[in-house]
Amino acid sequence: MLNSLIRVCYIGLSVCILLVSASTLRDVEYSDDHYCHSEGCTEAGRSITSKLDRSVDPCEDIFQFSCGGWFKDNPISEEWNEKSPLIDVSLQIDERLLELIRQDGWEFKGTPSSAIKKLKEFYWSCVDMGAIDEKGAEPLKQLIDDFGSWTVTETEKPWEKDKWDLQEAIFKTHAWWGSSFFDIGVSADEKNGSRNIVSMSQGGIALSELPESYTEESTKDFFMKAAVKLGELLGGSSVNVTAKMAKVYDLEKNLAQIFVPKENLTNPFNAYNLMTLEDFQKLIGSWINMEKFMESVFPELDWRDEDELVVITPEYFKELQNVVQDTDKETLANYIMWNLILPTVGYLPEEFEDVNIKQATESEDKAEIPLSRQTSCLQKAVKVMPFAASALYIDLFFSQETNVKVVIAIDDIEHEFINNLDELHWIDQVTKQNLREKAESMTNQIGFPDWILNPSKLDAYYDSLVVNPDDFWGNFINANQFQSNQILESYQKPPDKRKWDTSPLEVNAFYYSTENQMVVLAGILHEDIVSPYYPTSYVYGKLGSIIGHEIIHGFDNSGRLYDKDGHLQDSWTPHVAEEFDQRAQCFIDQYDSYLVYNHSLSGSQTLGENIADNGGMRLAYRAYKNSIKPELRLPGLNLTDDQLFFVGMSHFHCGLFSEDSALFRLRTDTHAISEFRVIGTMSNSRDFAEAFNCPVGSPMNPEEKCEIW
Ligand SMILES: *[C@@H]1O[C@H](CO)[C@@H](O)[C@H](O)[C@H]1NC(C)=O
Ligand SMILES: *[C@@H]1O[C@H](CO)[C@@H](O)[C@H](O)[C@H]1NC(C)=O
Ligand SMILES: *[C@@H]1O[C@H](CO)[C@@H](O)[C@H](O)[C@H]1NC(C)=O
Ligand SMILES: *[C@@H]1O[C@H](CO)[C@@H](O)[C@H](O)[C@H]1NC(C)=O
Ligand SMILES: *[C@@H]1O[C@H](CO)[C@@H](O)[C@H](O)[C@H]1NC(C)=O
Ligand SMILES: [Zn+2]
Repeated sequence: MLNSLIRVCYIGLSVCILLVSASTLRDVEYSDDHYCHSEGCTEAGRSITSKLDRSVDPCEDIFQFSCGGWFKDNPISEEWNEKSPLIDVSLQIDERLLELIRQDGWEFKGTPSSAIKKLKEFYWSCVDMGAIDEKGAEPLKQLIDDFGSWTVTETEKPWEKDKWDLQEAIFKTHAWWGSSFFDIGVSADEKNGSRNIVSMSQGGIALSELPESYTEESTKDFFMKAAVKLGELLGGSSVNVTAKMAKVYDLEKNLAQIFVPKENLTNPFNAYNLMTLEDFQKLIGSWINMEKFMESVFPELDWRDEDELVVITPEYFKELQNVVQDTDKETLANYIMWNLILPTVGYLPEEFEDVNIKQATESEDKAEIPLSRQTSCLQKAVKVMPFAASALYIDLFFSQETNVKVVIAIDDIEHEFINNLDELHWIDQVTKQNLREKAESMTNQIGFPDWILNPSKLDAYYDSLVVNPDDFWGNFINANQFQSNQILESYQKPPDKRKWDTSPLEVNAFYYSTENQMVVLAGILHEDIVSPYYPTSYVYGKLGSIIGHEIIHGFDNSGRLYDKDGHLQDSWTPHVAEEFDQRAQCFIDQYDSYLVYNHSLSGSQTLGENIADNGGMRLAYRAYKNSIKPELRLPGLNLTDDQLFFVGMSHFHCGLFSEDSALFRLRTDTHAISEFRVIGTMSNSRDFAEAFNCPVGSPMNPEEKCEIW
């Protein structure tokens, strides 16, 4: 399966704005005391107050102070692994969308829309359990036969060892959604912004997020449980499946062992290794013909020895042939088939969904969020047709005014970055000039792409996607084909800065270093995050901090290595870069010292995000202080405006995690866990200490502070 683009996001893993000034609020009644007593304001005041825990001293623990009330109202229950107001926002978006998608007809803006029809039919094909159950495991069995059989279970067509060819199997499965042994992707060339380029990376293991976990007994237990379940559903015997899949596990474990650790890839220069196809062939060895591989994944393209590609993990590819040579043919065949089958389990009868290998890393048999069939079908439909789904939602629930306001806020906050440079005495003039230019050239995309609200453009975009209302499996195959074709097409064109590759309904924001571009998705502009009734200070704390965070990603430990055009190039004066590293070390040590369920957070794994959180909040605070708008007061909210800013920032991160979920994040997430995103940032902020009058030396106002931006 092809992937695209590399990005840094605001929220990690499964989940990854409205800036309203008081003077532009509608539906607001002012009275002499500058309090707003409208229903909207009263509700906003109540909502903010109810999240607080006034019994906690904010200088002792600003996280508990800001979120304690919300925690009391939202205890972690047995079946939930995580809770947060942000998850609630996602669920609310899903709920609204579910209602829209279940409505009859496929009109969009008054005209029949084939895109909306396909979206709804995809959804209906997923909830039609009768049709899915009737087909049963047949579609998958057929696939296994077509691709040369899986000896883990008995199928109609026995595996023919002598006829089976390793290369053929890799070519064929990768041309579909297979990803055995490695991942292949298309993205902008980090050193030449006028072309897209193919990148090759380590991959092909079920638990790729946590390769080091393969050595743990519990991982094997979960892996085997999932494999046996799948094998049995396909008619295999537990004993046979166990014997064969244990070998597949060992192969994945061996691959995991040669994975380049993610720490080594933090520096983007390490991950950028430009090679000709010929050189890559020499590196990977003669066991696989890479030219033929490319031609099967990119049909219609002629590949030559001198064509270039980016190899992200050369050390992995060098070792790969040893692992392959040490593995018997049958295990290789079973592994490639297992890799092809795993992504299909969500498109078969419901019992197949229990084969959730990802849970192996989170242990415990519970999903992050338990979803109804309807909601999980909705999410699948949104994944396949994000722009059609967003069009439905945005047409009803999004105001264009929001965009305008966010753009203004981004401008303000970018300005603060430039103003703030004058105060950073450790940066020399040459470097400052580069930084200024980079900040000035940063572009942004807010909300959603305009074209999606144009019915004929929307239809044209999905024109080649085929959807049948009664063939869920077929729709899965077609959707994969559609997505692959899009990526293939993008390869033949220069990178397009206006291209969107994320669902606008995700509750998230991004910074793309190769485009020097910030993206703030419509999902994060939901009114729970930025109600027009919230005071400016609160909104700047909540949303402004996100915007600041994304801007700072352009200047964090890896972002700083890209120039204003998004090209990988270190333009910093060496002694300034050294000072940067020293200051970064302060953050590493600080976050290393935090404990989550008695386990240490990793300061180096989360460094870039922590730099972004700290710098981002500081910029947002300054932008808020410099916005000289009349401030609106909410009834019942006994906080100063400055305090409200910091409460707003904290409220974005109120999050509760079960121990399993927290420990999983600790090992995989590049963001610090919510509690310490708040506490870490506040402890470094003099503005915070001043707003709450925290004595020097109190837990939230330590004498030693880390600071970069
Ligand atoms: C960048 O890519 C374009 C398009 O492929 C090519 O024409 C140009 O020569 C490349 N520039 C460099 C410096 O490699
Ligand atoms: C298990 O494997 C053995 C040996 O390959 C085979 O004879 C037997 O039929 C298999 N049993 C099942 C239920 O697949
Ligand atoms: C990863 O980085 C460490 C420390 O710099 C180095 O010793 C090791 O060889 C690197 N591993 C790979 C596979 O590049
Ligand atoms: C926390 O971890 C430390 C060191 O790993 C250990 O000594 C201590 O007993 C642990 N405390 C609890 C409450 O588990
Ligand atoms: C408001 O907060 C201040 C300072 O925390 C406190 O002294 C005062 O009693 C509070 N007033 C009300 C009405 O809650
Ligand atoms: Zn981030």
